[in-house]
Formats: sequence, structure tokens, C-alpha cells
Amino acid sequence: MSNSSCLAIVLAAGLGTRMRSTLPKVMHEIGGLPLVGHVLNSVMHAGADKVAVVVGPEMAKLEEHVALRAPHATCHVQVDRLGTAHAVKAAEEAYNDASDHVLVLFGDTPLVKADTLHRLRERLSGGADVVVLGFEAENPFGYGRLLESDGELVAIREEKEATDEERRVTLCNAGIMAFKGNALPDLIAEIKNDNAKGEYYLTDAVEVARNKGMKVVSELGDEKEVQGINNRAQLASCEAVFQQVQRETFMENGVTLRAPETVYFSFDTEIEPDVIVEPNVVFGPGVHVDGGARIRAFSHLENAHVSTDATVGPYARLRPGAEIGEGAHIGNFVEIKNAKVEAGAKVNHLSYIGDARIGAKSNIGAGTITCNYDGYLKHHTDIGAGSFVGSDSVLVAPVKLGDGAFVAAGSVVTFDVPADALAIGRGQQVNKEGRAAVMREKLAAAKASRKG
Ligand code: UD1
Ligand code: CA
Repeated sequence: MSNSSCLAIVLAAGLGTRMRSTLPKVMHEIGGLPLVGHVLNSVMHAGADKVAVVVGPEMAKLEEHVALRAPHATCHVQVDRLGTAHAVKAAEEAYNDASDHVLVLFGDTPLVKADTLHRLRERLSGGADVVVLGFEAENPFGYGRLLESDGELVAIREEKEATDEERRVTLCNAGIMAFKGNALPDLIAEIKNDNAKGEYYLTDAVEVARNKGMKVVSELGDEKEVQGINNRAQLASCEAVFQQVQRETFMENGVTLRAPETVYFSFDTEIEPDVIVEPNVVFGPGVHVDGGARIRAFSHLENAHVSTDATVGPYARLRPGAEIGEGAHIGNFVEIKNAKVEAGAKVNHLSYIGDARIGAKSNIGAGTITCNYDGYLKHHTDIGAGSFVGSDSVLVAPVKLGDGAFVAAGSVVTFDVPADALAIGRGQQVNKEGRAAVMREKLAAAKASRKG
């Protein structure tokens, strides 16, 4: 099978009116990735060397996403929506240029695994001409039913055309089919629209193939994996399944999740073994956590890298470009954006560090802020190794602190501090002996006179 060529046709022309959205249905996201992106990943992992996506008219955003995720894919516009076989026909240009295997998938069925697609392809290599992915439906209403006899698939009956007896069948069509590449063009050409909906049903390919003496079989899949999305509730239920799979996979791979059901991952989250993730953590896209790190409760990470033995949180926010070095500490209510916190450095409380470098083993006091933006441009703050920035300091970028610099608490630092220098940038303290007592007396008298 490894040398057989494979075309995947992904049907994504549906508007998804029940989503009540201005977005094409397949652009809604699961784990931060559009539905169609999940399908593209699966088909590419299943060895599809050609990918054709059938889109609706005026779906520029969808076409852009396809180009981004699968640069070699082609998009084909289906102008009128006359059924699933009609949608496949829109990709005629792609399937006429024969591949050994053709997979047809729906863009609104995001959780299908590459392994499952592999199994369909193996059946083709084993001699089948058409393979349909089926599943045992808890509630089969609305699905096409697989009608079998002697281990072969005889027909797929859509809900609307099924007899009462056929409706009792619980083995249903997942909507994913695999064809021998040289069989597909004739099958599609022969499908008619003589049914209740007046549509060209791809499912009719089964009977057409049987009539031609071809071998048609079904392969069993898991209902959770093939669930499709037609509305927001189904989108949420697919998200739940996706998150559950992610959690189980991370735990199997050696990541501790203290309360797995409260941790949310993105499609591309990477966490190495021996990381501890405390409850209520959200991983946005593009996060990599190295082994031995600890992500403490209620933290939010996005496009960030956390190195070995570092600690993040509780209640920390790592925004895009946060690079946390080995053994560094990022504490509560700290936000890091586009900044490198080098090995062993500490930013433990209530700080904003943006567009900066914090040198190794530096200590950034509570409430420190890098002023990185002047309303027009972003500027860089560079803090050398072993520096100490006292609490409640403001570092007005662009500014540079040399190695071992010391900033007195409450300073506003507006120009560079040389290595090992002490910077004090605040109003000087004045003590007035006895004045507190005098003030108290005055204020008490004023209050008493009001009461009177
Ligand atoms: C389809 C199957 C049914 C199966 C079910 C699984 C057919 C005739 N029926 O029914 O057997 O059990 O999926 O979920 O295939 N699409 C287009 N252009 C069209 C029509 C559809 O691109 O003209 C796309 C849709 O965007 C969608 C997919 O094809 O992604 C399926 O279409 P839909 O109308 O949702 O089919 P179902 O009635 O759910
Ligand atoms: Ca559907």
C-alpha cells in the first residue's frame, strides 16, 4: 500500500445553516483548528499525496485556510448544492487524473483518525473496489443505513427512502468512503437523482458498483470518531471528545494532569513526559513544554515555550513569543509577551514583561512593568544577567540594564543602567517629625464639627 498513490476529496461546500453563522461550517474550530484543518491533517497522515477540497462559492477564507494547511491541495467550487455525489463531481479534474486510491470525506467530520483511513486503504489493497466506513449508531435517525448480505455491502439507504424495516438497522454510514481510483469516474457518472430529495447521493455508488460486479465492503469505525457537526451543540460535543482524547494521550505519554477534565489543549500542544499540569490550565495554540516543568493552576499559555524545571503560575499568562528558560519562575498574575526569561530568572508577582530579555538569575520584583509601547511603536527592554529590579518599578523602553544592575524599588527607569550600577529613579522621601499626630488632631476636629 505504501507505494499506491492516494487522492483525498474533502467535501466542504455546505453552508451549515444550522450553525447560524457567517462562517462556512467547516471553518468553525475544534481545539483551535478549523474542522477542515483536522480532516486535512488526517488525510495527509493517511498518505494522501493529492488533496482536493470542494468548497462553495465565495468561501475565500476557507480557500486561504486550505492553502495554509495543505499547500499542495486544490480547491474546486461546487456552485449549486445538488448532493454529495454532485459535490464529488466538482473535483472531477482531480480524480480523472487517476490515483490508485480515492478517499472521500466530509469536512464537517473532524475527528476521523489517520489509522481508520489506513484501514480503508488496506481493504482496497486487499481487493475491494469500494469501502464504506460504518458505525453502530446509538440513535441512527438521519443517517444512511448500511444494508449487508454475506459480508458484502449491498446498498446504503438514506433515511428518507428507507422502509420501516431498513430504518431499524443501526449500522450507519459515517460518510467516509474509499474507492479504487479507476472505478470512481464511472460510478459518479452513473449516479442519478431519482430520490426523495432530488439529490445526487454519493451513497448510491454502492448499488451502482454492485451492478457492475464490483466488490463493495464496509469497515467498522467508532461512533465518537465519526460524529459530524451540523449545529453548535454538536460542535461542543465534538470539542469534548477531542479534549478527552488529548488528555488521555498526554497522560499515556507521561504527563501528570491533576484534574484532567479541567485542562484544555490545542490541536498542536506539545508537552514532554514528566511535566505536571495543575487544574484549570488552558493551552492556546503553539505551546511546547519541556520535561520537568510545572504549569500551576489557572494559567493560560499561547505560542510559548517553557523549558525544563521551570514553573509557571498559578494564574500566569504566557502570550505569543514567551520563552521561559530552564528553572525560571513565573508567578501569579504575571503576563509575559514576546520576551525571553533566561535560566533561573524569577518574575514572581504581578508583572507585565513585554518585548524584553531578562538575563539569567535576575530577580524582577512585584509589580514591575516594562513600558514597551508608546502608542505607535513597540520597544525592547534588555535586562542583563544577575540583575535585581525592585518592586513597583517601571522600565521605559527602549532601555538596557547591564549585568548585575540594581534598580531601587518604585523607580521609573528611563535611560540605560550600566552593569553593577544602582539606579534610583523616584522622588526622595522626606520625614516631618511629629506631623502625623498634628494631622490626626486636625482631622478629628473637622469630623466632630460636622456632626454638630
Ligand atoms: C450524509 C450521507 C449519509 C451519512 C451521513 C453521515 C449522503 C447522500 N448521505 O448525509 O448516508 O449517514 O452523511 O453524516 O451522502 N455537501 C456538499 N455539497 C452538496 C451536499 C453536501 O459539499 O451538494 C457536503 C456537506 O457540506 C457535508 C457533506 O457533504 O460536509 C454531507 O452532506 P449532508 O447534506 O450533511 O449529508 P447528510 O444528510 O448528513
Ligand atoms: Ca451531515
